[in-house]
Amino acid sequence: MIVHSPLKVVLASRNVGKLREFAELLPDIQVVPWPADAPELPETGAFFQDNALQKAEGARAWWLAHGTEPVDGVLADDSGLCVDALWGGPGVLSARFAPDLPAYRDKIRRLLAMLPEGAVRTARFVCVLAYAPLQAPPFTISGSVEGSLALEPRGESGFGYDPIFLPEGHDHTFGELPAETKHSLSHRARACQALWRRLLGEGM
Ligand code: IMP
Repeated sequence: MIVHSPLKVVLASRNVGKLREFAELLPDIQVVPWPADAPELPETGAFFQDNALQKAEGARAWWLAHGTEPVDGVLADDSGLCVDALWGGPGVLSARFAPDLPAYRDKIRRLLAMLPEGAVRTARFVCVLAYAPLQAPPFTISGSVEGSLALEPRGESGFGYDPIFLPEGHDHTFGELPAETKHSLSHRARACQALWRRLLGEGM
């Protein structure tokens, strides 16, 4: 049952880059940020899907007990950069890669330094969304974008590993491309489009 129009959804994440992108990618959904006093949500799975479900279900349980406003459901995103020459890494560990280096420009330098000389530079961003309605079983939906790694970080837009990701067919990184271009082809944009179609199909 839909409680609100527009749909009102808690985003189970404190990542400000993700929060901004969801607000832009899902303009017909009212996105409520994960409260500052709410607990960190564990993500201990081996796969994006496990972690997305774990975060959505953990956030829903917390919200049912402590939520300060009525919402329709909880949305969680587990995403990351999968580099072929690193056997798909950092993948699910993208946020936790190089924990001794908090700044992304340093994580990026380490990641680039890990590539063997002459390695194939192909990579992809993957996003798995888990949506947990307050009173119905959760489901997951995913999106990905193929690309390759730039030789050096370029551009200041976006967040995380955007400055080294060259989406297929583009000579500029996500860090250089305008947000509208990223939103027309990104892993998160594709997952959000699929989520929206699914919600509409379910008689939202
Ligand atoms: P998690 O889903 O919270 O485990 O973290 C996902 C991590 O993957 C982010 O903190 C970024 O490091 C990376 N990531 C996911 N999506 C993007 C993106 O769109 N651009 C750049 N980095 C991303």
